[in-house]
Amino acid sequence: MPEKIGHSIDGIEEYDNPIPAWLMWLLYVTIAFAIAYWVLYPGFWKGATGWSQAGMYENEVKEASKKYASAASADLSAIIHDPSAIARGQEIFAQNCMPCHGADATGGIGPNLTDNAWLYGGTPEEVVHTITNGTAKGMPTWKSQLGPKKIADAASYVLSLNKTK
Ligand code: HEC
Repeated sequence: MPEKIGHSIDGIEEYDNPIPAWLMWLLYVTIAFAIAYWVLYPGFWKGATGWSQAGMYENEVKEASKKYASAASADLSAIIHDPSAIARGQEIFAQNCMPCHGADATGGIGPNLTDNAWLYGGTPEEVVHTITNGTAKGMPTWKSQLGPKKIADAASYVLSLNKTK
């Protein structure tokens, strides 16, 4: 039986029990965790792991832009020679582009699109860019009217005409 502490308050006495072992272990474990955390992570110093919030953010941005950039160009190169995309593009061309570029795309108000000469570049990305944003000299922007999917189709049609005449 442990000793009593020896004081009595309103007739209530207290035993001098040791602190339970599980509670002491909880204390030791949290102290060890805190020390390990101080050593590894920024706080009192930059931390042994080199981890930082800003670094984590930058990494995520880097990974995301890599992922989405390659997804976009992969989509484009896949669609550009796809016959069904070219067929959809031909329809889009007939409805939107013919008045200026001509029924056979050899030009009118807009330039001939079937020759090898490009004013704004003839890579898939450049043609998409021209159609999306238009130019200062009369080529309208199609960004909101057609959207990226139809613009890619139209670009695949335009590129399929290239070097055909
Ligand atoms: C209102 C008339 C008009 C319409 C409609 C039009 N274009 Fe054009 N387009 C032009 C003109 C004018 C130019 C030349 C712009 C310049 O010299 O800056 C041009 C240039 C271009 C070029 C660049 C060619 C090069 O040599 O780099 C492409 C590609 C093109 N148009 C595709 C299209 C497509 C696809 C559509 C339909 C979605 C379309 N255009 C609709 C007038 C038009």
